[in-house]
Amino acid sequence: MSTFDDYLATFDSEPGYLNWAAFGPLSPSVREEVFADADLLGSGRPSSLALVGERIGQAQELVAELLGAEAVEVTVQPSSTHGLAQALYGLSGAVIAGTGEFPSVSLTLDRAATASHGGLAPRWITPADGRVTPDAVAEALDDEVTAVVVSHVDFRTGYRADLAALRELIGPDRLLIVDAVQSFGVIDVDWSAADVVAGHGYKWLRAGRGSGFTWFSSHARERIAPVLSGITGTTATGLFVDELPAPAASAQAFTVSMPDTLAAGRLAIGVRDVRDAGVAAIEGRLAEQVDAILDIADHRGIAVVSPRERSERAGIVALAPEEPARLAAALANAGLVVTARGSTIRVAPHAGTDAGTLQLLDDALAAFGYETFTIA
Ligand SMILES: Cc1ncc(COP(=O)(O)O)c(C=O)c1O
Repeated sequence: MSTFDDYLATFDSEPGYLNWAAFGPLSPSVREEVFADADLLGSGRPSSLALVGERIGQAQELVAELLGAEAVEVTVQPSSTHGLAQALYGLSGAVIAGTGEFPSVSLTLDRAATASHGGLAPRWITPADGRVTPDAVAEALDDEVTAVVVSHVDFRTGYRADLAALRELIGPDRLLIVDAVQSFGVIDVDWSAADVVAGHGYKWLRAGRGSGFTWFSSHARERIAPVLSGITGTTATGLFVDELPAPAASAQAFTVSMPDTLAAGRLAIGVRDVRDAGVAAIEGRLAEQVDAILDIADHRGIAVVSPRERSERAGIVALAPEEPARLAAALANAGLVVTARGSTIRVAPHAGTDAGTLQLLDDALAAFGYETFTIA
């Protein structure tokens, strides 16, 4: 078996799981290693604690490897929202963002603007289809704009933003701040188009909560003030008392306190596993899974509102059935786990989703169509 096949074989959750965009059931390797790390912490021996402490550096190195960045530029964060806050609170000028973004972007930007007392102003855009395209950003762009903050893959529409095109549009000086929660580890993209990339391990990396990270490029570090810098983000190397050292020049300035080493370990293992399997291979298999779901939806007459072009999507299919609540109930009764929200049902497979799960979906949609026919 190839490393990629080994990776696929680790998907051991029950059939019917199509909710990877919400939460990724923990992989066997993450589960095993977190138990081992917890045992080490249970001993209390300084050498054991130090061993688990090494997880922080491992996570930084592995995330950096996937980003094509330096480990010292990567910070381990409690969540992606914490990392976004570190970036957004330190901005000034006008910052373009979509109103339909996950609140980790929109609410954090609003709060950062409030705290800035006029130094920072959101420049909201509401594209009709919710897609933050270069055209949509171009309409809002002027000399006051200092940054654009965008989800690489939108949590609702599944639209994958074109980071290279956004960079080309905004030029080299403005910052491109990217929420990579719905793509990191499963989409092989050139992250160097961005200045800040925030993500976490609890969906596509199968690593559980508490496993956030954020990368700050040198360009970002020059332009973002580390206003939320805490006790781990200073020029001091050890404990300081009776003095208040300045923020560090490195990305560490964008941290508050010591990370949870168990969470850092889970993040490191989750990233290691996708690195070993190959992000491009995972992306290819995920695209096939999405193709299969699109075929099923088309065949069963359910409208799809997420992009169909492979280059414009990742692992999210948004269905827009005529009776969303009834379809959501039918899917749940059939043992399928999806996210039903308003008029859409979000279906999110992973590379390792099994054929039985897709069959369950097809059967459930077939039965649903039949019910509609007989009732009507
Ligand atoms: C696009 C996006 N950004 C951010 C988050 C929240 O991330 P965290 O819990 O790490 O703050 C989510 C969660 O679903 C998301 O979909």
